[in-house]
Amino acid sequence: MPVIAIIGAQWGDEGKGKIVDMLAETANVVARFSGGDNAGHTVVNPAGEFKLHLVPAGIFYPQCRCLIGHGVVVNPESLLGEIAYLSERGVDTRNLFVSDRAHVVMPYHIMQDRLEEQARQNSAIGTTHKGIGPAYADKAARVGIRVGDLLDEDLLRSRLTMALALKNQLLTQVHKASGIDLEQVFEQSLEWGKKLSRHVADTSVMIQESVERDEMVLLEGAQGVMLDLDVGTYPYVTSSHPTAAGACLGVGLPPTRLQHVLAIFKAYTTRVGGGPMPTELLDEIGDLICERGNEYGATTGRRRRCGWFDAVAARYSMRVNGFTGAALTRLDILDAMRTVKVCAAYKLDGKIIESVPGDLARLAECQPVYEEMPGWETPTSDVRRFEDLPEAAQRYVLRLSELIGCTINLVSVGASRSETIIVKSLV
Ligand code: IMP
Repeated sequence: MPVIAIIGAQWGDEGKGKIVDMLAETANVVARFSGGDNAGHTVVNPAGEFKLHLVPAGIFYPQCRCLIGHGVVVNPESLLGEIAYLSERGVDTRNLFVSDRAHVVMPYHIMQDRLEEQARQNSAIGTTHKGIGPAYADKAARVGIRVGDLLDEDLLRSRLTMALALKNQLLTQVHKASGIDLEQVFEQSLEWGKKLSRHVADTSVMIQESVERDEMVLLEGAQGVMLDLDVGTYPYVTSSHPTAAGACLGVGLPPTRLQHVLAIFKAYTTRVGGGPMPTELLDEIGDLICERGNEYGATTGRRRRCGWFDAVAARYSMRVNGFTGAALTRLDILDAMRTVKVCAAYKLDGKIIESVPGDLARLAECQPVYEEMPGWETPTSDVRRFEDLPEAAQRYVLRLSELIGCTINLVSVGASRSETIIVKSLV
């Protein structure tokens, strides 16, 4: 049985939740590998609509073990809130496990995120204010608190004492904010540990054993490739690795175990927060996409920036991840367009370029070179076979596939599981 990584191939919000939910029907394990509660995955299933932030989308299937790998940063308050929300709605969370090695997003990380964003003034990243960057920074600086630490009173006290000695200097002296009380955070952390203890496990062993048993494993991405700390549009990125390589690292699987890397592309582009976006539409077409697609963040409610499909960024994403297939989501949002455009190349200093410049100032100067194609102006949400799509829609999908350099296996034409066209089987 395969190990499949499901990767957001643009700037996040591509609709990964729906695809993971669909594939999880036959999976034994679904594991999150990066990010934290900055992610927002919407799943619509027969029990209703659910918004998930940390819990993997496999949670709706009783056979599925849902793991939060060590590459994730975990806000315990959020996780406990999500467990309570799912339980209230009748979803069993006994199969949810969080890695003892995962780092904890502490209250001071959230304070730090806000203060740092304020200090950046006009260059603010536009973070979700969930403390994600500071939590990963502490992990790299080796002063982080891990989920396992919450279960060991002595270890927790010594780790917190060390972390707060540094953190309080930063908060009070650099940011002129109030400091954090050790006893208060210690008590709160112990409480989190108690409440979470039944879910804490060595998830890397669980996933490795699952692979050895030849079970089907899904690695559920959050955010998107262009937000990756290394390969994204730095510094307007998140602080983790939402890529195929990040998937292996974030759950503890060797890259040689990954059989499929499924890209999730939205049929157009959206981005939340700051940073260049060459195909952004600041006109009524951008507004139309936003309104038809209800492009508002599941986590922060912020309006997403909308634009045409950027095939230059998509090709870059393909090269970085080696996608073995792709799902194209939200095709139906374009149903109303008279014509549709695809950015096939950029123009920079009068020259055509076909790659994404690493220098952000240069990327910000890139002008999209569009191919314009007829729209289909027909509803597609009821279509279930590729050949039943309007011809113009078929041509659009095939052209995207050609430009990205990857087969499109699935086309999603609505939020629910059934509103999906299987063009070519995945495995
Ligand atoms: P952070 O992850 O909160 O530090 O935010 C860094 C950047 O990533 C900001 O531009 C956010 O808007 C963006 N970001 C973080 N999570 C998501 C997501 O799930 N979808 C889309 N953008 C995200």
